[in-house]
Amino acid sequence: MRGIILAGGSGTRLRPLTSVHSKQLLPVYDKPMVYYPLAVLMQAGIREILVISTPNHLGIYRELLGDGSKLGITLAYAVQDEPKGLAQALLISREFIGSESVCLVLGDNIFYGHRLPDMLREEAERLDGCTLFGYPVSDPERYGVAETDEAGNILSLEEKPSRPKSNLAVTGLYMYDNEAVDRAAGLAPSPRGELEITDLNLTFAREGRARLVNLGRGSAWFDTGTHDSLLEASMFVQLLEKRQGIRISCLEEVAYRMGFIDREQLMLIGKELSDSSSYGRYVMELASA
Ligand code: G1P
Repeated sequence: MRGIILAGGSGTRLRPLTSVHSKQLLPVYDKPMVYYPLAVLMQAGIREILVISTPNHLGIYRELLGDGSKLGITLAYAVQDEPKGLAQALLISREFIGSESVCLVLGDNIFYGHRLPDMLREEAERLDGCTLFGYPVSDPERYGVAETDEAGNILSLEEKPSRPKSNLAVTGLYMYDNEAVDRAAGLAPSPRGELEITDLNLTFAREGRARLVNLGRGSAWFDTGTHDSLLEASMFVQLLEKRQGIRISCLEEVAYRMGFIDREQLMLIGKELSDSSSYGRYVMELASA
């Protein structure tokens, strides 16, 4: 399975924070936002990942994350010239995906949960059509909303409905069979001129080949689309990290625990991050534990 991180868009809702900066590089407590979705893909066991961003910002992602070799993964980069919809990410990635299945994650979505890595690996194995990940929220009208039967088969799917049929928001994490690429190519732009991810998902749902896994209790999902949700995500990460003395979505730790890099490589990175940063010290301590 190939991974895609979509870190495009103009971040209008977060201006002036995003007037110059890429939204998905804004800090979420102790690390850039994009670390969180990247950690999700790595925890799913995905090692070939394409990062998509705007022409203005792509270079900064490359500078930050490099070719991935330090983390034992392969990172490639591609431009989305204009924000023409989430489903366009699959078209931009066509060559990169080749004949593989694909996991798309939005660069501004933050997931946390003890069972998440196992769950993602299980879902990747049983994938047929598309698998979405839902999260119960109090304000579903802000998101894609799904209605499912007890087995998780999707019965209805609506983008930002004014009268939501359930409280299950569709999070920005999507798994697809390879055929999703052709389906995305066949989509017509929506009234706002975008290739909508919900339209793509509906093509699978209509055939009874769309599942939704409810992340539900025991996990956390944040989108960071507003100033409040951005701050709340930071506070959540801070709270958990301080209380438990661990780091969430520390890419170097994930790479080490997944067996992508060994202890010596981890130590080298820790030294580079320098022990003047508490993040760097954490990595050094892991390597010498
Ligand atoms: C997008 C999707 C929506 C999904 C959300 C998750 O919305 O269109 O279905 O629930 O991401 O973050 P956006 O945040 O681009 O408005």
